Amino acid sequence: MAKSKKRYVCANCGAVTPRWQGQCGDCGEWNTLTEDVPATVFSQKHDLSRGGRALEFIPLNRPAELPVRKSTGLAEFDRALGGGIVPGSAVLMGGDPGIGKSTLLLQTAATIARGGNDVVYVSGEEAAGQVRLRAKRLDVADAPIRLASETSVRDILTTLGEGEPPALLVIDSIQTMHSDTIEGAPGTVSQVRGCALELIRYAKASGTALVLVGHVTKDGSIAGPRVLEHMVDVVMSFEGERSHQYRILRALKNRFGAVDEIGVYSMEGEGLEEVSNPSMLFLSGRDQPLAGSAVFPALEGTRPVLVEIQALIVRLQSGATPRRAVVGWDNGRLAMLLAVLESRCGLNFSSAEVYLNIAGGYRLSDPAADLAVAAALVSALADRPLPDKSAWFGEVSLAGEIRPVAHAGLRLREAAKLGFERGYGPSDAKNETSTLDYRGLGQLANLVDHVMPSE
Ligand code: TYD
Ligand code: MG
Repeated sequence: MAKSKKRYVCANCGAVTPRWQGQCGDCGEWNTLTEDVPATVFSQKHDLSRGGRALEFIPLNRPAELPVRKSTGLAEFDRALGGGIVPGSAVLMGGDPGIGKSTLLLQTAATIARGGNDVVYVSGEEAAGQVRLRAKRLDVADAPIRLASETSVRDILTTLGEGEPPALLVIDSIQTMHSDTIEGAPGTVSQVRGCALELIRYAKASGTALVLVGHVTKDGSIAGPRVLEHMVDVVMSFEGERSHQYRILRALKNRFGAVDEIGVYSMEGEGLEEVSNPSMLFLSGRDQPLAGSAVFPALEGTRPVLVEIQALIVRLQSGATPRRAVVGWDNGRLAMLLAVLESRCGLNFSSAEVYLNIAGGYRLSDPAADLAVAAALVSALADRPLPDKSAWFGEVSLAGEIRPVAHAGLRLREAAKLGFERGYGPSDAKNETSTLDYRGLGQLANLVDHVMPSE
């Protein structure tokens, strides 16, 4: 049998040596080597339950300090973050090019800097002059931000390591950063991951809040490795149609709070402005009801937003394959809804082109939109407007039933507040409003009977 050997493990880096030394040969720390449970060479190789260090377990109920949040000064940004930026945390801000990420972060950085905090803004995309011009346009040129145009992570961290760590560090963008310890051009998977790792390590060690800007690819995911989303604490997405004025800030992942809150902004000539009451925003101003239009009380987190859904149906004479185009909603969901309308309600869409649009450049993700979309489609098919001042919500099952959805009462209250007089949805929803007349529809077929009563 092999003689059991002593081994020493460094508490700092985990390196193992057969002899005790004052200094760890691997990481250079002093007095970190401790003796391990003796193990034979064989058991070291084959028995993972022996030869490691004993962990100290911590009970869940031990009083822990809650992270102190730093308000960004923009109520809507705070709201999406769940209360403000947490020191030592890393936030990834994704969004299409030109959507306004740099604008949003420059405004945020200026507010935090004006609050007496040290803020560093590093732009790898624009020259300092360009950023200064934007700051002038946003009227924040007087904010005491330390600005640099730089792409070398080594230079950035060396500079920051020399003084007091800043309260906030903005890196615009992570795809332009470059580390000389890693092979490859900026923007490649290994570079993006390596640079992010170094910057996050600095943030965790120094207590600096880090915001990384990330580009978004065509299919909507943040360019570079998926692993970037695993490395950071918060992933935010800044969305909207570039041609529209409104932008939505959404948390996709949040280790410190909820992910279903949103912030709503409008892009003005002097930067982004907060919209604190957005429920009317996405309704087009219309006086008389139109065929193919339905209003849906959507919920974003705890906040109701009324959205207009527009459908257009064009009958094709030739036998060409009809088009189905959707803006702002899920393509697959539309196909499913059309199939349910065909098979359960006897409507025929097979020779018709179907176009669906969510007004105002809004993107719907709430599953309760099914009924409103179905109502818009049926109304467009019949070329008959839906009842005046009506709001629609409910999930549609494959069997054609209208299923209950969350917060029906809240949706109805908001619709009533904005002057809607009729509501349609699942049968079990409770209507607590006095001005709105609610009708529960059990089946999708009831909707069709309602919109297209047989003469
Ligand atoms: P920007 O913040 O540069 O976008 P990103 O960093 O996400 O690429 O913003 C780009 C657009 O915003 C630009 O097309 C012009 C517009 N904009 C305004 O409308 N008003 C403003 O005050 C500013 C600064 C930009
Ligand atoms: Mg930018």
